[in-house]
Amino acid sequence: MQFTVAIDGPAAAGKGTISKAVAAAFGFAHLDTGLLYRAVGAKTLDGMDAVTAAETLDPVDLENDALRTSAVAQAASKVAVIPEVRSALIAFQQSFARRTGGAVLDGRDIGTVICPDADVKLFVTASAECRAERRFLELSSKNPETTREQVLADVIARDKRDSERATAPLKPADDAVMIDTSDMSIDEAIKAACDAINAAR
Ligand code: C5P
Repeated sequence: MQFTVAIDGPAAAGKGTISKAVAAAFGFAHLDTGLLYRAVGAKTLDGMDAVTAAETLDPVDLENDALRTSAVAQAASKVAVIPEVRSALIAFQQSFARRTGGAVLDGRDIGTVICPDADVKLFVTASAECRAERRFLELSSKNPETTREQVLADVIARDKRDSERATAPLKPADDAVMIDTSDMSIDEAIKAACDAINAAR
């Protein structure tokens, strides 16, 4: 059985949490496609050319905790504007989406570019302030020097770069189900996603 769930949305809207929960609930495999761009971004911080990094990316590169920092997130959104970087990563994502047993992919362009024929498309969003607050709580527990202002500025800068780029900008697919998590608990957001998937099965 092939069944593809595409989950897109801006940073810290709850995509990751929802994707993991949905994958566990339905027994689907999960790919966080942001990790691909983070892994390429991290290699550029080490001095590698972005296109070379994307063309030689190994799935093992994705299993690296150092990909979770804001420096790597910013580097990821910079390499993500390069069309050759994006095209080098398409085949891996599409073959993941076609695996038997079902797949959930989360990112920015899954419903629009990578899997335009996905069985279910969700666009998970929340206000910038709300997303920055969540990211602040997550980052400040690891680094006490993190400030709310800096996190909000980073979120806004990344949103702008992701939405305004020419290739595969962040935007909902025409047929995406919108889930605004600003005033939802995690459980409510997961239920909204599961309901949309059940309706399509
Ligand atoms: O989702 P995450 O915050 O890990 O993504 C890091 C960056 O990778 C995003 O800001 C975005 O620029 C890029 N990205 C993308 N397309 C995807 C997933 C992530 O351009 N499908």
